[in-house]
Amino acid sequence: MTELGPGAWPPAPIRTERLVLREPEARDRAAVIELFASPEVGTYLGGPRPRDELEREIPGAPSRRPGRFMVDLDGAVIGQITLYRETGHLRQAAGKAELGYLFLPEAWGCGYATEACAAALDWFADACPGEPVVLATQTANVRSMRLAAKLGFIEAERFEAYGAEQWFGMWSPGALSD
Ligand SMILES: CC(C)(COP(=O)(O)OP(=O)(O)OC[C@H]1O[C@@H](n2cnc3c(N)ncnc32)[C@H](O)[C@@H]1OP(=O)(O)O)[C@@H](O)C(=O)NCCC(=O)NCCS
Repeated sequence: MTELGPGAWPPAPIRTERLVLREPEARDRAAVIELFASPEVGTYLGGPRPRDELEREIPGAPSRRPGRFMVDLDGAVIGQITLYRETGHLRQAAGKAELGYLFLPEAWGCGYATEACAAALDWFADACPGEPVVLATQTANVRSMRLAAKLGFIEAERFEAYGAEQWFGMWSPGALSD
């Protein structure tokens, strides 16, 4: 794994009680396009992307990259989780691993995001021992704020960016609160 640390990438698929976290495959294309084209998913992320643009940008299997997990429920993708090393959009996060999550609206309200993110953080704690993870989300994104708290992220600061108040949180191994 080049971007996150010395651990092996890709890991074997990660199984939770209800989900599997795995690398993208060709059959995930439609779900990934839907994730980025959904107005509900994009509400606090600068809006949805045009579907035709996405169709062109993702001609086959969604791209594989260390830290990118598809979240699979019974063989179909319901969301994605990323743990990328932050390169520039946030000064506070520079060089740190940043957690990102997007789930299809029909999968909200079932605890899937909590279950999948907790497993991804567990994996990260093993792959990059002792390293913190950061997270930025709009404070208006209530579901995301609740998820961050459940995962054990602690507020580091709030700031204005992209015309909205942003919440910046930090997670350390052992902080999972359930
Ligand atoms: C942010 C996001 C992932 C949160 O999704 P979510 O489904 O609310 O998150 P959770 O997995 O924590 O689910 C919690 C809900 O499931 C319910 N739930 C049902 N069954 C459950 C179970 N077995 N275990 C846990 N919770 C369960 C909880 O009671 C809670 O319900 P509530 O919303 O009525 O309070 C989702 O809204 C999303 O993808 N948003 C768009 C993308 C986005 O804004 N990302 C932020 C990037 S910074």
